Amino acid sequence: MSIDKQAEDTAVADLLPNEPVRSLAPYKQGKSEAAGHADPIKVSSNESPLGASPRALEAYRKVGDSLFRYPNGAQTELRQALGEVFDLNPDQIVCGNGSEEVQSLLIRAFVSPGDEVIVSEHAFVMARIHATVQGAKIVDAPEPNHRTDVDEILNRVSPSTRMIVLASPNNPIGDYLPKPEFDRLVRAVPPHVIIVYDGAYADFVTEPDFTHGFEYVSKHRNVVVTRTFSKLYGLAGLRIGWMYGDMSVIEPVQRIRTPFNANIAALAAAEAAVRDVDHAARVRDHNSAWLKRIRTHLEQIGLDVFPTVANFYLIRFPDEGPHTAQKAYQHLMAAGIIPRPVNAGGPSGSLRITVGLDHENEAVLNALTTFMEA
Ligand SMILES: Cc1ncc(COP(=O)(O)O)c(C=O)c1O
Repeated sequence: MSIDKQAEDTAVADLLPNEPVRSLAPYKQGKSEAAGHADPIKVSSNESPLGASPRALEAYRKVGDSLFRYPNGAQTELRQALGEVFDLNPDQIVCGNGSEEVQSLLIRAFVSPGDEVIVSEHAFVMARIHATVQGAKIVDAPEPNHRTDVDEILNRVSPSTRMIVLASPNNPIGDYLPKPEFDRLVRAVPPHVIIVYDGAYADFVTEPDFTHGFEYVSKHRNVVVTRTFSKLYGLAGLRIGWMYGDMSVIEPVQRIRTPFNANIAALAAAEAAVRDVDHAARVRDHNSAWLKRIRTHLEQIGLDVFPTVANFYLIRFPDEGPHTAQKAYQHLMAAGIIPRPVNAGGPSGSLRITVGLDHENEAVLNALTTFMEA
């Protein structure tokens, strides 16, 4: 072997990432371009079509004058606003750079190499990545009926289990775990196992048997709820999320949180957004009304749509014939509509579509109708 080649091999070996990182594939983002369409309809990332509250936008613009300042590292005003609106103790809230970051803080604070982390099949994919990097063993809990399955989780709890991660509503299905089932899970899980209850889409849910999970925190120190401003509040671009937990969970997280993990613009806009409960209700109503209309229409044209309470819906297409998911994807893209194929992390042959503005939803339904007629 030449000296150059030897040096090259040594250099490559030196640059090898940590053992767990070697097995990871990069996160795949939703597409935002459709060839030939300057202004496509992007319904691939579950963003809010109605945008942020006008009050949040005003707060965002105003904060421009203070960009030379560090943010309030104690996140006082936003925690206070969240406490008032959701009737929670602000001391038990930690905000971060998206709920994705708060989940990573939880994992870093509580999961050690060799621990087992049970991840329900349709929980957020990043939790898997953070736990893997931490050296944990990921234990997958299937969702055979396309919603979190408590028995599948409980059957996998072992003496090595440290954390359970689930999303309700889940993604990419959009179904939720009814409160009696969450109750059963919480009661059966040993108290040293942290249950991360990811409510990224919880703000959209109006079903009476849904639980936001907050009420469990005071009775069960191991339950932690994570929430985001990326979905109903329309602040995905600012990256701001939060968690609510018992002080015994919050305090270790505070020890590892970098002091300015939530930026000044995100804190200001999120505070105004959460206080604008009328805007939040408008977004929720728009979403619920469209979900009903969409379901009725899709069923009429012979498409199979999963039950959903989130701001997206998942359509399952036949595996063969003229109406496969791949063909539907091409048809929608040709019409300037960008859906999300969910080959990885969802039922095969499915497309996930975000509820959009009126004209966007109509365009999607029209395109799917012509597709099914073809
Ligand atoms: C279930 C679920 N949890 C968490 C997130 C992350 O949200 P954030 O933007 O707050 O990081 C997403 C994003 O799509 C999600 O689908």
